[in-house]
Amino acid sequence: MDYNKVFCEISKSLESYHDNGKVASYIPELKKVAPIKFGVHLCTVTGENYQFGDSEEKFSIQSICKVLSLTLAFEIEQEDLWKRVGVEPSGNPFNSLVQLEYDEGIPRNPFINAGAIVVADVLVSKLENPKRDFLDFVRKLSGNNTINYSERIAQSEKSKGHRNAALCNLMKSFGNIENNIHEVIEFYFDLCSIEMTCEELARTFLFLANYGKDPISGNQIVSSSKSKRINAVMQLCGLYDEAGEFSFKVGLPGKSGVGGGIAVVHPGKYSMVVWSPRLNKKGNSNKGMQFLEEFTSYTESSIF
Ligand code: DON
Repeated sequence: MDYNKVFCEISKSLESYHDNGKVASYIPELKKVAPIKFGVHLCTVTGENYQFGDSEEKFSIQSICKVLSLTLAFEIEQEDLWKRVGVEPSGNPFNSLVQLEYDEGIPRNPFINAGAIVVADVLVSKLENPKRDFLDFVRKLSGNNTINYSERIAQSEKSKGHRNAALCNLMKSFGNIENNIHEVIEFYFDLCSIEMTCEELARTFLFLANYGKDPISGNQIVSSSKSKRINAVMQLCGLYDEAGEFSFKVGLPGKSGVGGGIAVVHPGKYSMVVWSPRLNKKGNSNKGMQFLEEFTSYTESSIF
């Protein structure tokens, strides 16, 4: 399929789309991003690449990183991971505290902030040098040694990270955080600060479109069973309290971030990333969702 042509046609049809979304501002550095940015990159499992717009510009991947931290923690902890974090959609905002109280400190899933903080705690416990070792893992997945954290974004989030600190403290009080809360939360902010282009991120997600094996390097990153499960959690929880709407409209496992990126995979076919910084009220990219809905409709490539 000529995806370049598809991208051009959809972006033409979106020219009149009025985007009333807002660039995230609760992390001060994020609001400096130009709202008009728009990029797309698609990698097929057979090694073809298609791009559109600002696809080679770095952006803050934010929560999309939670898929990568989950992948590494799942590989390390195996089934024990699920004693500390669930796989159910939360139906609540990504940074909500309410369910944690009556679920006794066990987050509903690894993609809400509470769940990703537990995953970060696992990595702090199990990696010799969490920051360095996690970056090595992401660089291996992406086949790119230049991927890095953004000190600027991490510091900016740390200055306003009170809600995440509250989540971490609450879970610590229930015994579901092993390490020092400052160490865990700082590592979590570092994870969220990673910057990538649409191209780099789509490449990084390719193993999840190919049953756990990176088709370019030939590395089996995780088993096909784990890849299926990670995709299943993305399908149900990747867009928080908009996961139903996203499944309904787009029909692919996906993960969003407040930097405006959305990564999706179609197992057996492709991985794809769209980036547009204006977010809707649920914290997901407005135009990114619209683009993906039109894309899977046009190409008839939802998984359903
Ligand atoms: O913890 C936070 O609030 C951010 N570092 C990540 C949140 C996020 O990306 C939610 N995504 N839509």
